[in-house]
Amino acid sequence: MGRDVIIACDFSSSEETLEFLEKLGDERPYVKIGMELFYAEGPDIVKMLKMRGHKVFLDLKLHDIPNTVNKAMKVLAGLGVDMCNVHAGGTVDMMKAAIDGLKAGCGTGSRPLLIAVTQLTSTTEERMRRDLMIDRDMESVVSHYALNAKNAGLDGVVCSPLESGKVHDVCGQGFLTVTPGVRFADDDKGDQARVTTPAKAKELGSDYIVVGRSITGAADPAAAYRRCVSEFTGR
Ligand code: C5P
Repeated sequence: MGRDVIIACDFSSSEETLEFLEKLGDERPYVKIGMELFYAEGPDIVKMLKMRGHKVFLDLKLHDIPNTVNKAMKVLAGLGVDMCNVHAGGTVDMMKAAIDGLKAGCGTGSRPLLIAVTQLTSTTEERMRRDLMIDRDMESVVSHYALNAKNAGLDGVVCSPLESGKVHDVCGQGFLTVTPGVRFADDDKGDQARVTTPAKAKELGSDYIVVGRSITGAADPAAAYRRCVSEFTGR
């Protein structure tokens, strides 16, 4: 599987999203649709982006009882997305129900990749201890959640690039690490607590990087995207 840069389209409408994508000219990047855009526009935004030629990661981070997640995944399977996700915190049973739902919803068609969020990249070890009462170091928690995801039959995890190496050690090189929390060396890190540059993410073994504001908020988004692809993939 080739490395790729996924642009987080954290916009509130399809108009805003298209206006942004037009700035990228003929490029057809892998894009991530999050809750804001999906809740505003519904399945039509997925269809529109697929028709434009983009690969789509639908980032809805499902986290509910297994039966509910199973049924929701059956529906998501019909949208034609390339990647979708759940929270690993929903437990192995929930993740198994999710992959089963996805498979059932796809029938004989190709199945989207299913990955699990380990700990959000905005969460620090201190907040994890204080708010979640998880009294272990971040790397152990992320590796444990990743192994749960692998055992449930998922394709990979969302984690910080700082954890990609450890996840690959524990779950194998073929297990995908999709990593947000990426900033250029000269950027503001905003609300992300654990950040690295695209070049560093490559060095640490990330399979995909998810980049939002460093591209969407750049004065020249096309140049920022190309810089990201070049730093991360060497292309
Ligand atoms: O703008 P920025 O590059 O920080 O955007 C990162 C994107 O990745 C956001 O859409 C955010 O929701 C998402 N994300 C994250 N941390 C996770 C999972 C997803 O930042 N663990």
